[in-house]
This record gives sequence, structure tokens and C-alpha cells, in this order.
Amino acid sequence: MTTFIVLLGPPGVGKGTQAEILARSTNLAHISSGDLFRENLKNQTDLGKLAKSYMDKGELVPDDVTIKMIRDRLKRDDCKSGAILDGFPRTPAQADALEKTLAEFSGQVDKVPYITAAEDILIERTGGRFTCRASGHIYHETFNPPVKVGVCDIDGSELYQRDDDKKETVTKRIRVYLEQTMPLVEYYRTRGKLVEINGDQAVEQVTQKLLAALKT
Ligand code: AP5
Repeated sequence: MTTFIVLLGPPGVGKGTQAEILARSTNLAHISSGDLFRENLKNQTDLGKLAKSYMDKGELVPDDVTIKMIRDRLKRDDCKSGAILDGFPRTPAQADALEKTLAEFSGQVDKVPYITAAEDILIERTGGRFTCRASGHIYHETFNPPVKVGVCDIDGSELYQRDDDKKETVTKRIRVYLEQTMPLVEYYRTRGKLVEINGDQAVEQVTQKLLAALKT
């Protein structure tokens, strides 16, 4: 028996924040496509360098390389009981590939919480975001500040601001989301997997709604 959850929603709505919390409370692996690209970039791999050229422009990394990266990640042992997917799939081709990959492990996408918030909130959240250099833990200067400025509470590593969190890049990412990822709302709604969650609430309230939705 496996459980695969896809967190869907625009840039900055809180997918990563919630995925981290849900992974801890469900013991499922947390797979973030953005974190995997950033890890590759940190390690200066070819994939990282390729991904950066798209990420800096706020565009999606091509489907073929993204799908291969996630397929490889899903084959790791920590995904045997399932995973929380954060940032993947982002196009119908990626969603089809995920369905095929999970079928190989006799799995399927079980639920797709679709987290929403207005554009001004997304800009405010990404504008104040700080991310931990070592493991990608997420903070916000106002809504979720670290105990010590610039230092991750969990592993003590440096906090930094993502290059793609500049306002103009975030605006582009939102446009790309609307054009290329929004079709997945209908994709998963027609398959009976979609659950809408209002992301314009405090982190704890969003978590409560998500946990309730995952139980139904
Ligand atoms: P990725 O890293 O996936 O970015 P994203 O989807 O745009 O989402 P974000 O990480 O910006 O936001 P989030 O929803 O996780 O919000 P968070 O929890 O951090 O992708 C980056 C790039 O990589 C893409 O542009 C693309 O180039 C490439 N890429 C990645 N996946 C790809 C794919 N599948 N295909 C092709 N290309 C891909 O929260 C944001 C802030 O708000 C934080 O500061 C947080 O503390 C705060 N916050 C969270 N929740 C709340 C709340 N309820 N109230 C107040 N503050 C909150």
C-alpha cells in the first residue's frame, strides 16, 4: 500500500512549507523538484547548470530532463511507502509520465491538494522568503522568522534569498504557472483527485485543512 500526494499551487503559495510538515507527520518522503534542481546547481552538475538557465528566467526546465530526474528520485528506497510531491508535475506531459512511473510500482496519485492565494500574497511571501543553504528549510522574515537572523533553526546553516524570488522573476513564474500548470487543475479534477485548499491562512490552519483533506 503506497500513498502519493501531489501538492499543486502557484509559486510562493506554501507548497514547500506544507510538504515539509506533512512529510514529518506522515513519514512519507518529500520530493521537491525545485530543491533537486538547486541541489544539482550547488554540486555544479550539468543538470544543475542547465536548470539554472531556465530558473533564472522564471521558465520551466524542459519536461524530458525533469521527468528523468523525478523518475530516478522515485526509485530510491525512501519512496517505498509513497511520497509528497512538491512542484512536480507542472505540465500535462509530466502528469502523464508520473502516472506511468507510479503504475510501474503499482502506485497511483492518491490526492492532489490544490493550494490557492491571490497574486499579491504570492509576491509578499516570495519577497520575504529565506531558504536554508544546507537542506532547503523555508523561512519568512515576517510570517516565519528564524530565531537568529540569517541562521537556520534546524541545522544552523546560512539562510539565503533565492535568485528567482526577485519581483519580476516571480511575476514571470506566476504567468508561466497560469499558462502551463493550470491545466493540471482540470486534469486532476476530472480524475476525482483534486481538493481545493485556501492558502490565504496561517501556516497551521493550512496544515489542518490539508491533514483533514488527506483523511477523506
Ligand atoms: P520551485 O522551487 O518548485 O518553486 P515554485 O513552485 O515556484 O514554488 P516556491 O518554492 O516558490 O513556493 P512554495 O509554494 O513552495 O512556497 P513556500 O512554502 O516556499 O521551482 C523553482 C523553479 O525550478 C521553477 O521556476 C522552474 O524553473 C524549476 N522547476 C521546478 N519544478 C519544475 C518542474 N516540475 N518542471 C519544470 N521546471 C521546474 O512559501 C513561500 C514563502 O511564504 C516562505 O517564505 C514561507 O515561509 C511563507 N509561507 C508559507 N506558507 C505561509 C502561510 N500560510 N502564511 C504566511 N506565510 C507563508
